[in-house]
Amino acid sequence: MENIDWGKLPFGYFKTDYNVRCYYRNGAWGTVEISSSETINIHIAATCLHYGQEAFEGMKVFRGKDGKIRVFRWEENAKRMQRSCDGIMMAQPPLELFKEMMLKVIKLNERFIPPPGLGAALYLRPLTIGTGPQVGVKPAEEYMFMIFAGPVGPYFKEGFNPVNVQIVRDYDRTAPHGTGHIKVGGNYAASLRPADRAKKEGFSTVLFVDSKENKYIDEAGPANFFGIRGNTYITPDSKTILPSITNMSLRALAEDMGMKVEQRHVLVEELEGFDEVGACGTAAVISPIKKIVDRQTGKEYTYCCNGTAGPISTKLFKTLKGIQEGEIEDKFGWNMIIE
Ligand code: PLP
Ligand code: COI
Repeated sequence: MENIDWGKLPFGYFKTDYNVRCYYRNGAWGTVEISSSETINIHIAATCLHYGQEAFEGMKVFRGKDGKIRVFRWEENAKRMQRSCDGIMMAQPPLELFKEMMLKVIKLNERFIPPPGLGAALYLRPLTIGTGPQVGVKPAEEYMFMIFAGPVGPYFKEGFNPVNVQIVRDYDRTAPHGTGHIKVGGNYAASLRPADRAKKEGFSTVLFVDSKENKYIDEAGPANFFGIRGNTYITPDSKTILPSITNMSLRALAEDMGMKVEQRHVLVEELEGFDEVGACGTAAVISPIKKIVDRQTGKEYTYCCNGTAGPISTKLFKTLKGIQEGEIEDKFGWNMIIE
């Protein structure tokens, strides 16, 4: 095994052996290329550089105690990549191409898949970019789809320990009829300034409210939001949040545990009545929240359990991790096993 301190990995870039690439030219996807280079060579007028034709995904690969390698719900990421590409008029990588490239990049970087039980995983970053030149505002005629991989640890340095988050109302990550529901680079560009300010003010991340009425909770910068009240799992329904695959999985797990699940508008004031709250996503997994501060009003909402995660968040977290690492039966059929 590699000389890597798997338990101390941050969530960041890590150089591995190979990445995979495929080009869309003359209306068709070409053959898959394997590369050991960390750079790409693109046209100075490529639309990804000028007009934001860029969409990405984030997914995780786990090594179980049984030695098997598991990919979590890859089809959902592949389909979301297609929706993102469609939303900003890029060529869509077919599901079969996505699968072929994903399996290649995992196999080629197998030695970087962390051992189980340390909170680490091999993170895959698929991305599609417009590579063809345009100077007028138009979609490109050429695209590149690639996947690189690297081992990562928890997104927030706190891991599964609760974080503080800040509600911002003076910045929006997306417009009411904009691109919040797809995973395109522009949404993240818009989140950088409020996220940086929140960090300087002592918070792990921001919680955006809806950009139309400014009164409903939308989502965190890099993750969805959920709250637990009694036996109910509550998560925002909004056209401007990214449909999270983790959140979708947690809703299924909550229901399976006999909880009620509500996906609906969530007023900021409702934060008062929640027993537990958290952020969820591939990178964030479940990041329990201990304090939410509304930057504009100064109002504070505090949660559960002397700085540790609440019981329901803990149960959801353990079940999700257990399925991903092969410790708990995968009764929903979420994992693809690579022998
Ligand atoms: N919301 C945003 C803005 C994200 O960037 C992510 C990460 O992908 C999520 C939510 C969580 O989505 P998923 O659970 O599919 O990773
Ligand atoms: C993920 O959870 O995979 C993400 O893409 C979130 C963030 C790193 C942008």
